[in-house]
Amino acid sequence: MSWTPDSWREKNALHIPADYPDPAALQAVESELSSYPPLVFAGEARTLRSSLARVARGEAFLLQGGDCAESFKEFHPNNIRDTFRVLLQMAVVLTFGAAMPVIKVGRIAGQFAKPRSSPTETVNGETLPSYRGDNINGMEFTTEARLPDPQRLLKAYGQAAATLNLIRAFATGGYADLRNVQKWNLEFVSGNPQEDRYRALADKISEAITFMEACGVNGSSVRAIHEVDFYTSHEALLLGFESALTRIDSTSGKWYDTSAHMVWIGDRTRQPDGAHVEFCRGIENPIGLKCGPSLAPDELLELLDILNPRNEAGRIVLIARFGAEKAEAGLAPLVRRIVAEGREVVWSCDPMHGNTIKTGGGYKTRRVDAILSEVRTFFDVCRQEGANPGGVHFEMTGQNVTECLGGSREVSEGDLSSRYHTHCDPRLNASQALDLAFILADRFKEIQKSTF
Ligand code: TRP
Ligand code: MN
Repeated sequence: MSWTPDSWREKNALHIPADYPDPAALQAVESELSSYPPLVFAGEARTLRSSLARVARGEAFLLQGGDCAESFKEFHPNNIRDTFRVLLQMAVVLTFGAAMPVIKVGRIAGQFAKPRSSPTETVNGETLPSYRGDNINGMEFTTEARLPDPQRLLKAYGQAAATLNLIRAFATGGYADLRNVQKWNLEFVSGNPQEDRYRALADKISEAITFMEACGVNGSSVRAIHEVDFYTSHEALLLGFESALTRIDSTSGKWYDTSAHMVWIGDRTRQPDGAHVEFCRGIENPIGLKCGPSLAPDELLELLDILNPRNEAGRIVLIARFGAEKAEAGLAPLVRRIVAEGREVVWSCDPMHGNTIKTGGGYKTRRVDAILSEVRTFFDVCRQEGANPGGVHFEMTGQNVTECLGGSREVSEGDLSSRYHTHCDPRLNASQALDLAFILADRFKEIQKSTF
């Protein structure tokens, strides 16, 4: 049962490409990566763990969001800024509405690799390997592009490092200062039905800060006002990359995957005896576990025994992804069992992945209504079963795309083709993401009213 960063190699590894044309070249790249600087510091992952322990106790809320898949093509400072800005806007709406700290975690700076439902794709009679994410192969439908290329790992590392660098600058360098709450609004919300609501909220916050400053609190010297803690996360899918970035932390002597603060295990790779669970059990980072309709309560407990044997709060985030229709029947037995067994977990809701549909026009899309409905069911089920609804996990972009249907600035089926840019799943656009934040904030207010 001994663990090393490479012990997963002895296990069955699903969704990891085995068809690199030159395995020696892959090995050379992995060994080069293992000498590169860590992207995050272990101490930050520990701070996130203690914040998540607060979420588990119902004292804070987890907001996790970002792209389905990052790509080399969409790598641009404006895209990073816009995603970060929408997350800040959502966070501010939620912090105000829930009157609780919001733990901000991006699906960013490393979210490249994708599990695919089929290993191959056929177009006009020609069959090629599926696209697996920009850190593995290319999206173009050519034999060459679809061949896994280890050099892409180095490029992904570079992109993740530069993205994280900009995010850290935004988070601590003044951009995220609460006194800028009005400015985050300028480009986006204008023309959006939520504009008035956001502006009214921003006015209240500005007023509160002006008051505090008049009372002698200096916003520039109070870290809570001018900085945010922002964390990164991605699916721990491509384990060669993850293990190359897994290091012993010199301050604690423990192993951390330094590619991100938090990583998660997908619904398709959570076999208790599989490679992904083996890898994740040995690292100290907070671990997300996607829970879908095929996960039975017994298997969930078995996974928790492996991943969190000491039942520590803040270690595990269970991310429910059932689909609006199946959410109640699927989630309730899991929550009931976890509560009965006294397991310390954060419950989070991914209302995206169970609600993907295909339109007549062939677009993969999601209805905002179904997304909101799954979130509401999640809150209701958690409360009925005596658990805290701890967070949300969703796919969004700061760009004004037309990939999901509905929202207060309605996207219709006919609009999908106009700005459909995703490399993988359909994402909420900026205004749909803000809709979601306001609805969550309203839900919190109702809960608090009913409790007191
Ligand atoms: N630092 C606090 C927090 O992260 C308050 C804060 C500053 C904030 N800037 C923010 C909250 C931007 C949300 C969004 O919660
Ligand atoms: Mn996705």
